[in-house]
Formats: sequence, C-alpha cells, structure tokens
Amino acid sequence: MRVLHIGDVVGSPGRQGLRETMPQLRERYAPDLVIVNGENSAGGMGITERTANDLFGAGTDVITTGNHVYRHREAYDFLEETDRVIRPANYPQGNPGRGHTVVEVDGMRVRVVNLSGGVGLRVARSPFDTIDSILGHHEQDAVIVDFHAEVTSEKVAMGWHLDGRAAAVLGTHTHVPTADGRVLPGGTAFISDVGMTGSRTSVLGVKPEQALRSLITQMPTRFETAEEDVWVMGAVVDVNDRGLADSFEQVMLPAQ
Ligand SMILES: [Fe+2]
Ligand SMILES: [Fe+2]
Repeated sequence: MRVLHIGDVVGSPGRQGLRETMPQLRERYAPDLVIVNGENSAGGMGITERTANDLFGAGTDVITTGNHVYRHREAYDFLEETDRVIRPANYPQGNPGRGHTVVEVDGMRVRVVNLSGGVGLRVARSPFDTIDSILGHHEQDAVIVDFHAEVTSEKVAMGWHLDGRAAAVLGTHTHVPTADGRVLPGGTAFISDVGMTGSRTSVLGVKPEQALRSLITQMPTRFETAEEDVWVMGAVVDVNDRGLADSFEQVMLPAQ
C-alpha cells in the first residue's frame, strides 16, 4: 500500500495547485491513500466544509489539521459529523472533531492519527501519552501519524517513540521541508516536516512584503495569502502488510 501525504495546503493557491498537480502525482506515485493537511486551506488559516470538500474533490481521502483548525466557527459542526477530517488527538476531549480515524485501503485498516506537539503549541495532553493510549485501545493494521509540531527535537523524538509501532510519523506545521526523511531501523518512515503546499514566493504562505512589514515595524499587519510559484510538498511511503514502511520518498514539485 502506498501513502501520499501532503503538507499544509495554504489558501486557494495551495488548493488549486494541489488540484492541478494531482493527476501528475497519481501518475508518478500511484498512491492508494492520500492524506492532506488542510489546516491552512481556508484563506491561509483554518478550514471550512467548503475547502475540505475542495481537497476531497482533488482526490484526498483523509484531511489532517493542526493549531488553526478552529479558526472558522462554521466548521465546528462539520468536524463533528465527518470522519474524514481529523484534528489533533491531544486537544481537550470535548472540542469539536476527532483525533484519529480508520480507512480501509487494500484490505488493510489504516488508522490515521493527528497529534500536536506540546512545545510552543497549546495542548491538553502530552502527544506521547496520547498516542500510547490510542495504540493501546485500538486495533488496526497500520498507523500513520501526522505530527503537527513546532520544534524538530520533539518531532525527531516522536519518530523514535513510534519506531516499529507506526508505519509513518510525518511532521507538519512549520511549512518548511526538512532533509531528514528516511525509514528508521524499526520500520517507521519519518520526516520532521514535509513542508507546505503553497506559494514559494512567500513567508510560510504569506506575502513576503507583509510578513516583512510585520517583523520590521512590529505593527499590526494584514496578512494575505501569496499566490506566485506554488509548489506541492509531501512524502510517499510504501507500507508493507506488517504495517511498517518499506520506503520513504520526499515530494517537492512545482504545481502544474
Ligand atoms: Fe500550517
Ligand atoms: Fe500549524
């Protein structure tokens, strides 16, 4: 089974870039399961039912999110209803949505889990405790974790924590791809961050001049989603019937 995991899709340029590049991605990688982080899919921050459906329409099977998931109030009911959009499992239990879901792929029950890092981001519980509890209470044939976290140390640690227990631990949130992608010795594909799907002429998806103005003047600044030079970034993982990874490949392509 081959999994394609796409990093944070930023705004309509990111959604359009993914939609238009998906045929090429399908031809090149022939994924059986497509997981997309959609936390920035609505106007560069947050997600709505409409942007989620846009991502599903592009061929996404499961959408993961992160710290921006609750930006749009209108999405709360949708997050409760759908089992194809997940939010970090270590958020407060009563919050809208669920932290993991199971999809049937090639006869395998694949559990997709979304976790948030606890360093520099607000969480209710440790991501390490939370994933141990999920794995201890559920059965599945393979586990894919989208670890939405700020610092590389916590991300690398999660890779080792789950090595041999998850097929993949794939980092998101920083929007910057890292060069440490590989399969760990126990059989878990790992990368600190797969990067984002959005404009490269940007600061993490925001128009450079606005991000610069904010940083230089320290005054309130309106942020708009950058549109030029959209790239699709992610990772491809081959998962064997033991639920572990046979290979890892980084994806970085200019959108078509
Ligand atoms: Fe993001
Ligand atoms: Fe994030």
